Amino acid sequence: MLIIGSGAAGLSLALRLPSELRIAILSKGPLTEGSSMYAQGGISAVLDEQDSLDAHVEDTLEAGAGLSDPEAVRFIVERAPETIHWLMERKVPFSTARGEDGSETLHLTREGGHSHRRIVHAADATGRAVETTLVDLIRRQDNVDLFEHHIAVDLITTAKLGHADNRCCGAYVLDLNAERVEAVGARTVVLATGGASKVYLYTSNPDGATGDGIAMAWRAGCRVANLEFNQFHPTCLYHPRAKSFLISEAVRGEGGRLLLPDGERFMPRFDSRAELAPRDIVARAIDHEMKRLGSECLYLDISHQPADFITSHFPTIHQRLLEFGYDMTREPIPVVPAAHYTCGGVHVELDGSTDVPGLYAIGEVAYTGLHGANRLASNSLLECLVLAASASERIAATHDDFPPPPQLPAWDESRVTDSDEQVVVTHNWSELRHFMWDYVGIVRTDKRLARAQRRAEMLKSEIQEYYGNFRVTGDLIELRNLATVAGLIVESARRRKESRGLHYTLDYPERDPKLDRIPTVLTPNSFPG
Ligand code: FAD
Ligand code: SIN
Repeated sequence: MLIIGSGAAGLSLALRLPSELRIAILSKGPLTEGSSMYAQGGISAVLDEQDSLDAHVEDTLEAGAGLSDPEAVRFIVERAPETIHWLMERKVPFSTARGEDGSETLHLTREGGHSHRRIVHAADATGRAVETTLVDLIRRQDNVDLFEHHIAVDLITTAKLGHADNRCCGAYVLDLNAERVEAVGARTVVLATGGASKVYLYTSNPDGATGDGIAMAWRAGCRVANLEFNQFHPTCLYHPRAKSFLISEAVRGEGGRLLLPDGERFMPRFDSRAELAPRDIVARAIDHEMKRLGSECLYLDISHQPADFITSHFPTIHQRLLEFGYDMTREPIPVVPAAHYTCGGVHVELDGSTDVPGLYAIGEVAYTGLHGANRLASNSLLECLVLAASASERIAATHDDFPPPPQLPAWDESRVTDSDEQVVVTHNWSELRHFMWDYVGIVRTDKRLARAQRRAEMLKSEIQEYYGNFRVTGDLIELRNLATVAGLIVESARRRKESRGLHYTLDYPERDPKLDRIPTVLTPNSFPG
C-alpha cells in the first residue's frame, strides 16, 4: 500500500498497520518536514479527574460554532486518552509535573476555548517530540520503504484507465532527485498530505502545505467540504525575517495578555473569555484593532510571569525570539495573525475512507466533521492520530479483499518540453497568495470573493495550459494544486451566505440558524473546480 505523507497522520498509520503489509511512504522533502514537526502547544485529551469527556465534546462543539458533527466529535474525543497512552508507550517525551502526592504525572497546559487544562505537551515543541519519535520507529520497520523527495502528481483510478468499477490503484510520483515521473501501483492509497495554508501570503505553515491531497482527491472524484473555514492563528511573530513564526496559544494559556501599541489590554472588550476565547474571535479582534489603529502589529505580553517559568515552559519560543532581538521575559512580543489550519478538506468517514474505493484521507487533508466552523486548539494532532488508528483497522480488515493493481500506463511526456519561462510559475505563486490574503482573508465580502473568483479562474486556466505544455516540476505541481484549492475555497465561501466561526462576511454579518450543522459540500461533477 501507498501512504502519501510522513507527518503525524501518515507515520502513525504505518506504525498501527499489521507488519505483514508492505508499505511505501512518500514525502515531498525530508521525512520530518511538514506541519507536524512544528506543532507547539500540544494534543488535547481528557486525563484529569476534574475534567470530563462531555466537557471536551462541549468545548469542541462550541468552538465549531454549530457546524461540527457531534458524532465525529465524540468519536475522536473519546479516543484521545488511548491515543496519548499509545504515544507514551512509544516514549514520546511529554512534559511532566509532580502531583500533590509527589507522583509524576503529565503536565497539562491550557489553550483558548478549553474549559479545563487538558493539553498534553512536550514543553513548547510537542510536534518535534512526536514526529521525531515516530520517524525513529518507522526507520526500524522492515515492512516500510521510505521515499523522501518524492512528490505525488496525481492519483490513478481504474475509472481513468477505462474500467467499469472505480477504485484507486496508485499514483504518478515525481522523483525530485532523478527528475522522473513513475507510476506506483497500490491496492490501497492513503492521503496524509496535510493542509493548504500556503494558499495565503502569510502563514505559520511550512512551504509544503499546498493542499496537494485535496486537489488530487478532487481530481479523482472525491467530494470536499467546508473549505471556506481557514483558521488564522492570532499570534505569529511580526518580523520581516521570521516567516510567520508561531507564538503558541499556550503563552496565552499560561497568562499572556494581548495589548494595543499603547499598552491597553483589549480582549475583554470582545469576549468574556478574553485572551482564551476561541481563535476565530481572537484573530478577528486583532484584525479589527489593527485596522482601526492603522497598526502593523499588536503585542503579546507574558513578562509579568517569573523569567524561569517562561523559559521552562517556552524554551523554543524564548530562544527563537532572542535570535530576532526580543526577550519575552522582559518585553511584549509583536504579533499578527497568519493562516494556520485548513478546517475543511476531503470528505471522509470516521475510518478515513473517501468517495473513491481504495482511497483514504487522514489528518489535516481530511474533513471528518470534528472542527466545524473553527478548530479548537490542539484538536488537530489528536484528529491525525485517532483517524490513523481507525483507518488502520479498516485497512487491515479489507486490504486483502481487493485484487492487486492493474498494469499502469507510463507517464506520458511525449508532448512536453522543458519550460523556458519559469517566471510564469513564480509570478502566479505570488499573485495567487496575494489575492487570497486580500480578498478571502479574515473579513470577506461578496465583492471581494467575486474578484477572487475571477482571478482564480484566470490563473487556473493559465496554469493548466502551462502544465499541458511543459515538463512537471515540484513548484508547478504545487502551484497547480494551490490554484485548484484556491478556487474551491472561494466557491465554498461564496456559497455560505452567513457569518459563522472563521467565515466572516460583512454582507451577511449574522449567523443563520437554518444553516446549523450544514457543511458546504462540493461535488466534482457539480462544479468545475
Ligand atoms: P503534515 O504534518 O503537514 O505532513 C504532510 C506530509 O505530506 C509531509 O510529509 C509532506 O511532505 C507530505 N506531502 C504533502 N503533499 C505531498 C505530495 N504531493 N507528495 C508527497 N508527499 C506529500 N495542531 C495541534 O493539534 N496542536 C498544536 O500544538 C499545533 N501547533 C501547530 C503549530 C504550527 C506552527 C503549525 C503549522 C501547525 C500546528 N498544528 C497544531 C496543526 C498540526 O500540526 C497539523 O494540522 C498536523 O500536524 C497535520 O499533520 P498531517 O500528518 O496531516 O500533515
Ligand atoms: C499553538 O501552539 O498555538 C498551536 C496549537 C494548535 O494549532 O492547535
